[in-house]
Amino acid sequence: MRALLTGGAGYIGSHTAVAMLDAGHEVFVVDNFANSSAESIKRVEQITSRTVKLYEADVSDKAAMDRILGEVAPDVVIHFAGLKAVGESVSKPVEYYRNNIDTTLTLLESMKDNGVKRIVFSSSATVYGDNNQPPFTEDMAKGMCTNPYGWTKWMQEQILADANVADPELSVVLLRYFNPVGAHESGMIGEDPKGVPNNLMPFISQVAVGRRDKLTVFGNDYDTPDGTCRRDYIHVMDLAEGHVKAAEYSLNNKGTEIFNLGTGNPYSVLDMVNSFEAACGHPIKYEIGSRRAGDVQDSWADATKAAKVLSWKAERNIDQMCLDSWNWQMKNPDGY
Ligand code: NAD
Ligand code: UFG
Repeated sequence: MRALLTGGAGYIGSHTAVAMLDAGHEVFVVDNFANSSAESIKRVEQITSRTVKLYEADVSDKAAMDRILGEVAPDVVIHFAGLKAVGESVSKPVEYYRNNIDTTLTLLESMKDNGVKRIVFSSSATVYGDNNQPPFTEDMAKGMCTNPYGWTKWMQEQILADANVADPELSVVLLRYFNPVGAHESGMIGEDPKGVPNNLMPFISQVAVGRRDKLTVFGNDYDTPDGTCRRDYIHVMDLAEGHVKAAEYSLNNKGTEIFNLGTGNPYSVLDMVNSFEAACGHPIKYEIGSRRAGDVQDSWADATKAAKVLSWKAERNIDQMCLDSWNWQMKNPDGY
């Protein structure tokens, strides 16, 4: 199949490009490099010995998207493009709503005008909000989000589902990611955050490689076995392979389907520190700080629907996640 990946130069998009190419599909990427560079796609080509046509454009530019969709004629669009920093979304809500909602609206308009009927969307476990109890199942009512970024995902899901009501010929697959970590086993592509990382894994790996002095653990007074929050960390290559299954599923299905992409196994912040220490072979310096505003105590998936319907299951454990993050970080201490 021919797949257009919006935001495909980013962390999850570049790994999905590898998985799609490995599965024998053709990959096209559109990205404005707001949070990435063309280097990741060069490396995708090196890993797979395949070529990827890369378009530099903003997904909210209708004329550009019409040209690209017209030229590529994709069977499916996998829509990763968006801004994703939770904290930044609190200080720049308008930019987040503008970028994340506009890209999705423009993409839907352009898909309609170009006869493209299938879309796989990057949603997030954040839409379960802070009032549902894990493990989260897809049929739970969406919750109250704790930040503008989360609301953009919540709203984009709604927009896509509504578009499908109006056009029953559409196939809309909403993928709710849990906590993607790790890197491709080659260590050639990985997560390359700009500035101070917001997320746990890149922060730990920058401490491990000596770029940062110590990790601050945000709270150890939660009602969990070691007092720190628990998350469902998922290896980015497992997540990428979930996209291949979702895109293949969309070829023969219409309507809107939601899938959790997680492992179903919760790990605490200190579990991750311990596992990373084993991976890198030295201690990770950390201190206990206060709770971070907006954090939920527990988040993990019930991943049985994806196993049943997509025949997909995450295979890689947290030791593998930490080993691969460390391998990427060591080989690329300053990122791309
Ligand atoms: P990323 O920032 O690495 O990738 C996003 C890509 O989109 C970047 O390459 C960026 O340059 C591009 N982009 C942003 N706005 C654009 C625009 N207007 N036009 C064209 N390109 C644009 O982030 P990621 O971690 O790979 O996340 C991919 C998607 O998955 C995002 O939608 C994100 O919200 C979602 N998601 C991520 C996580 C996570 O923890 N990483 C969790 C849940 C959901
Ligand atoms: N944490 C620390 N110190 C840090 C960074 C994080 O202790 O320096 C802790 C957090 O408090 C949390 C855990 O590590 O308990 C994981 O935090 P992340 O920021 O890595 O991930 P979140 O679960 O907060 O958020 C992630 C994505 C969101 C997405 C959400 C879905 O960043 O985009 O998962 O569950 F919406």
